[in-house]
Amino acid sequence: MPPRRRDRRNRRDPSPTPSHPSGPRDSSSSSSPRLRVAFIAPLLLLLILATLHFTGHLSRSPPHPEAPQTTPLSIYERGLVKLEISSREILAEHGRVSENRSRRHFPNPVLAYVTPWNSKGYDMAKLFSTKLTHVSPVWYDLKSDGDKLVLEGQHNYDAGWVSELQGGVSLVVPRVVLEAFPGVLLLKKKSRNKAIDLIVSECRDKGYDGVVLESWSRWAAYGVLDDPELRHLALQFVKKLGDTLHSTRLKSSTRNHLEFIYVIPAPRMQGLNKQDFGPEDLVQLADSVDGFSLMTYDFSGPQNPGPSAPLKWIRQSLTTLLPAKDSASHMIFLGINFYGNDFVLSKGGGSAITGRDFIHLLEKYKPSLQWDEKSSEHFFIYSDEGARHAVFYPTAMSLSVRLDEAREWGTGLSIWEIGQGLDYFFDIL
Ligand SMILES: *[C@@H]1O[C@H](CO)[C@@H](O)[C@H](O)[C@H]1NC(C)=O
Repeated sequence: MPPRRRDRRNRRDPSPTPSHPSGPRDSSSSSSPRLRVAFIAPLLLLLILATLHFTGHLSRSPPHPEAPQTTPLSIYERGLVKLEISSREILAEHGRVSENRSRRHFPNPVLAYVTPWNSKGYDMAKLFSTKLTHVSPVWYDLKSDGDKLVLEGQHNYDAGWVSELQGGVSLVVPRVVLEAFPGVLLLKKKSRNKAIDLIVSECRDKGYDGVVLESWSRWAAYGVLDDPELRHLALQFVKKLGDTLHSTRLKSSTRNHLEFIYVIPAPRMQGLNKQDFGPEDLVQLADSVDGFSLMTYDFSGPQNPGPSAPLKWIRQSLTTLLPAKDSASHMIFLGINFYGNDFVLSKGGGSAITGRDFIHLLEKYKPSLQWDEKSSEHFFIYSDEGARHAVFYPTAMSLSVRLDEAREWGTGLSIWEIGQGLDYFFDIL
């Protein structure tokens, strides 16, 4: 990793753990016109270099210090989307992408999450913005502070990055997690209105194109979904936030409203329980929401090692949520993981891994990858200090079959998260 990236990471994410962002970073100057010019200038240079490169005046060096190596052929044309793939091929090809970064292979909307703790995602969002209709920086928490509500995360805001993305085709829709106690948030009308006001004001203030809201998992944890009255209040809150965002007029924009995307868990078992987000919930919210970010990943964990997102489970989730196949499928952003897992089989345990970790493991163990027919994912086994490990991480093939599934259903994609992926994954999109 080039040092510049590491510097940026430190600046963006001064905290040791992602869940406890500490003091605000200095953003007082980030909206100055001079800074904006500083962001546009490299873009112009990039354009000039790209033109020179195109007319053959320059060597094959990457046109931008942060850009991956390029090749005239796409990942499909390079024959990398296949079941029999070797460590050697992945090691040789993962850092190369098609030189035409604006050529889209997936026609439907693509929502890409970006986290401050994997800062590579900030650069990838800019490089591949033509393939990303929505970019969601994971920046905000709405929290309780005694009886009050506060929106934390304003220090993450990066004006130059946001405006650069908005200058292209991407909408910037930061994620807000509702951490506030339901007792504080849901039961009092005044608090509900305050929460909505905090979110809408931040959108206006920073010029966002909308927001992504995550609250369902918190509500499940607090027992809100088990109580019919609270569950109703919770859904009404989501509707009201969506309606308010939709009716917010923006002064300096061609858009006529703010977008609202709601995060939903994928139904886990056959049959729904009260904690699941079901088809009736979807119908109830449909008029107030522009899309649902469906979390079809995290299927396995250290207690039950296995694939991240078995294709059969993805299909089952879609079938459960969309009983009438054509109905609301265009509103679903089907979840795709750009991370994987390294499970310790003999002792239990293990953890999530990023593309960089995966590449280190391939270099070190030169394993042979196997295709798991049942889940449609690649995996490999290795031993370290007597402990057997199983590693599941996406490949061109596993991603490609999931994109085919999304195409067939007419859904979009939501990627968690682009800072954890390998460069050549973007060629698939
Ligand atoms: C890149 O792909 C797009 C879409 O397929 C195409 O319109 C464009 O001409 C291509 N650009 C180059 C330089 O080949």
